Amino acid sequence: MKESTLLKQALRQVMSGQVQAAADPYRPGWHLAPAVGLLNDPNGFIQHNGRYHLFYQWNPLACAHGAKFWGHWSSADLLHWRHEPLALAPSEAFESHGCYSGSAVTDHGQLTLIYTGNVKYADGSRTAFQCLARQNAEGGFDKIGPVLDLPAGYSGHVRDPKVWRHNNHWYMVLGAQDLALRGKVLLLRSEDLLSWHTLGEIAGSGLNGLGEFGYMWECPDLFRLADHHVLLCCPQGLSAEADRYLNTFQSGYFVGQLDHQNARFPHGDFSELDLGFEFYAPQTTQTDDGRRLLIGWMGIPDGDEFYQPTVKQGWIHTMTCPRELTLVAGKIIQQPARELQQLRSMMQQWQGIAGDAPIWNITQAEVEIETEHPFSADFGGDLQLQWDGEWLRLTRNNRRSGLPEQRLWRGNLRHLTVLSDRSSVEIFINHGESVMSSRYFPALPARLTLKGDRQITLRHWSLADCVIE
Ligand code: FRU
Repeated sequence: MKESTLLKQALRQVMSGQVQAAADPYRPGWHLAPAVGLLNDPNGFIQHNGRYHLFYQWNPLACAHGAKFWGHWSSADLLHWRHEPLALAPSEAFESHGCYSGSAVTDHGQLTLIYTGNVKYADGSRTAFQCLARQNAEGGFDKIGPVLDLPAGYSGHVRDPKVWRHNNHWYMVLGAQDLALRGKVLLLRSEDLLSWHTLGEIAGSGLNGLGEFGYMWECPDLFRLADHHVLLCCPQGLSAEADRYLNTFQSGYFVGQLDHQNARFPHGDFSELDLGFEFYAPQTTQTDDGRRLLIGWMGIPDGDEFYQPTVKQGWIHTMTCPRELTLVAGKIIQQPARELQQLRSMMQQWQGIAGDAPIWNITQAEVEIETEHPFSADFGGDLQLQWDGEWLRLTRNNRRSGLPEQRLWRGNLRHLTVLSDRSSVEIFINHGESVMSSRYFPALPARLTLKGDRQITLRHWSLADCVIE
């Protein structure tokens, strides 16, 4: 469809829908959410000329997946964001069914996007092109078009390029499905971002000692952390086990050493990045001050998503908060980006028997819970957390079936940081050993109610509104 037609359609949806969406009490106060329509993956996360840019998979036309656009926000401080001109609309034949996920780099000073042009045919088959677009003087993006066709030996599921610079070359990881329907990650190299050479498969189902490990790996990201490399990826098709892989699709990582020259990535076991109900397709960037920041999508493409009540208000899904990654003893530690502390106001502290704790308003709050003893917490009547001394259980009723469902973490609990924002909670366990991110739809103002007959120490801050100007 013509770009001008798509842009007019998007504009009409925003104009007619934004007042209702903005008035929704479940709209986050300090997380990023779409003005209208459906948001999914974070894309093109980068600090460029000192300013953060975050693009996002966006269907402005409906609360449904479909031919995605790229929306665009920018920020000087990771707290206050502003809308930038819409970056990409799926107007060309090489992206007819969506400008799918990808990344951003600074190339000769110019902000440059590498994304997947998703194409579906009437007979049900599909293909994918990896495409380039460069920022123009108006802040919009000019499409250069495809720079890579479907590599031989793969199905039409090849997408989500993440590009970085190493030793004066550009490298790309790409999510892929081979012809035996196994999920893979490909490594490619380029001198100019325009022509790409496939170096090989660096990870995937059946590689590096992994057995069957899913039919498609989406959204790979590869970066150095401490003295190692980390590959983030989203394998689809892992079977649920008693205490892991409980979401429809997984998002996790491998730690290893990448040999750029020979396209080898010997690595350890797969670990999930987040054990909550809603988390998928994260992307990272390196900041000017050397931190590795991650933002994820607080959603999963599982169909249950459309039972969330915000759909009736014309919008769905949010991003997670930005998180700082470190690697400790071979595991990723995630902590809320330090900038978020600026949102805090009015610290309250309390210590005593859990069941005697004050009932705090957690509509937009940060709560620290310090204890090793069993306790339970109710978040606004819609989500419960129980610690029994061995298992930490997050439970709720499934929004489609009404049946109880749970997510689990096992270990020695000492400390929790809970970040809440109207319809989401992100629970950081033991200062980031693990995280549970979930949307929830509490009675507002949301209340935190604790139970238990042992000692607990609590700290509470209200968090200011601050999202988009
Ligand atoms: C992950 C994903 C990506 C794809 C995009 C489409 O959520 O399926 O693989 O590029 O979403 O919106």
